[in-house]
Amino acid sequence: MIRPRVARLTPLELMLLPLLLGTRPHGSPGPLQCYRVGPLGILNCSWEPLSYLETPPVLYYQSQKYHSNRTQEVKVPSRQSWVTIPREQFTTGDTLLIWGTQEGRPLWSPVFVNLETQMKPDTPQLLPNVDFYEDDSLEATVPWEAPLWPSHKVLTCQFQYRRCQKQWTQLEPQLKTDTMTPLEMQNLEPGTSYQVSGRCRVESGYPWGEWSPDLSFQTPLLGPEDVWVSGTVCETSGKRAALLLWKAPGPCVQVTYRVRFGVGNVAMTQEEVPCCKSPIPTLMEWAVVSTVNTTNKTLLTNLSLVCLAPESAPQNVVVSRINGSPGLLVTWQQGTMKPWEYVVAWARDGDSLDKLSWIRLPSENFSTLLPGDFEGGVPYRITVTTVSPGGLAASPSVWGFIQELVPLAGPAVWRLQDDPPGTPAVAWGEVPRHKLRGWATHYTLCVQGRDIPTVCMNVSSNTQTVTLPTLHWGSFELWVMVSTVAGQGPPGPSLWLHLPDNEVRWKILPWVLSLCGLFLMGCGLSLATTRCLHQRYKLFPQWIWERVPDPANSNSGQPYIKEVSLPQPPKDGPTLEVEEVELEAVIEPPPASAPLHSGYEKHFLPTPEELGLGPPAPRF
Ligand SMILES: *[C@@H]1O[C@H](CO)[C@@H](O)[C@H](O)[C@H]1NC(C)=O
Ligand SMILES: *[C@@H]1O[C@H](CO)[C@@H](O)[C@H](O)[C@H]1NC(C)=O
Ligand SMILES: *[C@@H]1O[C@H](CO)[C@@H](O)[C@H](O)[C@H]1NC(C)=O
Ligand SMILES: *[C@@H]1O[C@H](CO)[C@@H](O)[C@H](O)[C@H]1NC(C)=O
Ligand SMILES: *[C@@H]1O[C@H](CO)[C@@H](O)[C@H](O)[C@H]1NC(C)=O
Ligand SMILES: *[C@@H]1O[C@H](CO)[C@@H](O)[C@H](O)[C@H]1NC(C)=O
Ligand SMILES: *[C@@H]1O[C@H](CO)[C@@H](O)[C@H](O)[C@H]1NC(C)=O
Repeated sequence: MIRPRVARLTPLELMLLPLLLGTRPHGSPGPLQCYRVGPLGILNCSWEPLSYLETPPVLYYQSQKYHSNRTQEVKVPSRQSWVTIPREQFTTGDTLLIWGTQEGRPLWSPVFVNLETQMKPDTPQLLPNVDFYEDDSLEATVPWEAPLWPSHKVLTCQFQYRRCQKQWTQLEPQLKTDTMTPLEMQNLEPGTSYQVSGRCRVESGYPWGEWSPDLSFQTPLLGPEDVWVSGTVCETSGKRAALLLWKAPGPCVQVTYRVRFGVGNVAMTQEEVPCCKSPIPTLMEWAVVSTVNTTNKTLLTNLSLVCLAPESAPQNVVVSRINGSPGLLVTWQQGTMKPWEYVVAWARDGDSLDKLSWIRLPSENFSTLLPGDFEGGVPYRITVTTVSPGGLAASPSVWGFIQELVPLAGPAVWRLQDDPPGTPAVAWGEVPRHKLRGWATHYTLCVQGRDIPTVCMNVSSNTQTVTLPTLHWGSFELWVMVSTVAGQGPPGPSLWLHLPDNEVRWKILPWVLSLCGLFLMGCGLSLATTRCLHQRYKLFPQWIWERVPDPANSNSGQPYIKEVSLPQPPKDGPTLEVEEVELEAVIEPPPASAPLHSGYEKHFLPTPEELGLGPPAPRF
């Protein structure tokens, strides 16, 4: 029987016990952990709770330095997973061998406990008088006190912090109680609440003490430079809508702000607002924002809203993109006055006034790489403003793209009054900037008649009207596409042109009528009307009777494809008021039933050269 023997095991047998029985004999009570609590503390041994239905375990311990043959015994109160050994029963500096049994059977592997190092100190104390200073980043110094401890013994303390009750971050380095250097925290966010806590352990000992209760503090709010104007304060014409904006405090801080607008020394309006915008009334000369209910009533700023002469605004603002860089590069030149500083502000196209980003630059800087997440194909409106004690002067806005994309839409085409009469003219609109997604390089105008291939031509991006002198009669579909450097967008809504062939028919009609009269007269004389009527087809060309003239009567008998691909000699003078000269005939496969090649279409469709445009179309 094992039972009576266990308590009298020799140290050697005890050492071999785990090998004989496995490390966690008899069930799985978890490891036995023993450490002293506090500076002079009692020894506390604990383990994972056992099944309470079982008999409580018994702990045994032997001193390794004194009375090494004497085994002492501690009974564990039932339903308790820890037990303490009173201070009087061991000597500091000793090492104890501790093991336990349950119903006489070994429960844990024996453990050695160094009474000098296995101590769990109390918690350190963090003091609330936190100091802040701003160097490159916002830093804080937190004073602290070590737990009560014999002064010649050194503790190592570790600290952690978190922002807004989120996850904890360890602070480095660990601090020692012999030097007691204050706790420093770097790279803090302004206007944010933080919690710090610390714990200590015996130098090169274990375990760690408990974490101290959290100390909470809030970093100061941002400085005055963070108030700015969104919109147009200095717009003389039209509607002025402007918003005073300032940067929000950190994510988990609630602050009330007092906003005042005034003229001269008189505050005209005063308002308390939560965060971080306030509409600017017209004709105000200054705006002041301060916090209301923070411990330090931070004055954010006194911003002048006076408009300076437009010449003092930054000149020649250029937005460009540096390959491989995620930001937009903005450059400018100084206006007529040297400012305090510049503010470069940017917003996505169509964003409301409160969605503005801005940065400040010293007056020596004439360029900056805008930080931020710019999205390809999105137009950003960028403004550079001169800020001086006397007021503000903003450059005209400039649009910038981090990357141009293919347009999402084409322009809508409409018909203008014929110019000159009989010559159709069309115009098209601009594609909205957010659908254009870049800068228009050129427009492509395409024309298609019934049963005929499409002809397209490029038109300069600053042309939005063309006349089409070579379109005479018939029905034509017209549409326009716009291109950016990224490529050509889809066709816009198309326009149908129905051109009556009035020119030809009305010119020819008097002749036809007089011929007809003569003929009928002749017939009447010969009294052979019936025969005469049979003759009419011989007398008049068939196309005069047809609504759609026979292609065979067009003035070309050559196959169509050849005609399109073989350019005609240019006619005298330009007939199409366009600037771009690149041309290309696109042939789309016509429907199977349609007559393929007829000179008729040629008659109606302008060839590029007929449109007065330069080089011949490529030959297919
Ligand atoms: C001993 O340690 C256990 C587990 O950590 C704890 O629950 C218990 O309160 C401690 N006892 C004393 C007297 O410190
Ligand atoms: C401990 O026991 C061993 C034999 O078991 C004996 O030789 C030794 O003298 C004892 N030591 C003390 C301090 O009693
Ligand atoms: C300021 O006041 C607001 C509303 O009264 C409150 O929600 C907020 O917690 C206060 N902030 C501080 C830092 O006292
Ligand atoms: C803000 O500045 C203007 C001009 O310097 C001054 O007239 C006004 O009194 C200031 N307002 C406040 C509240 O300090
Ligand atoms: C609070 O205000 C005083 C003076 O107004 C200033 O010296 C101190 O630095 C401020 N403290 C913080 C935390 O902003
Ligand atoms: C301002 O100019 C200095 C010197 O050219 C440069 O180092 C700094 O990065 C510039 N600041 C910004 C925000 O672009
Ligand atoms: C229009 O210009 C683009 C780019 O220069 C070119 O790729 C295209 O072929 C041109 N189209 C026509 C119809 O000339």
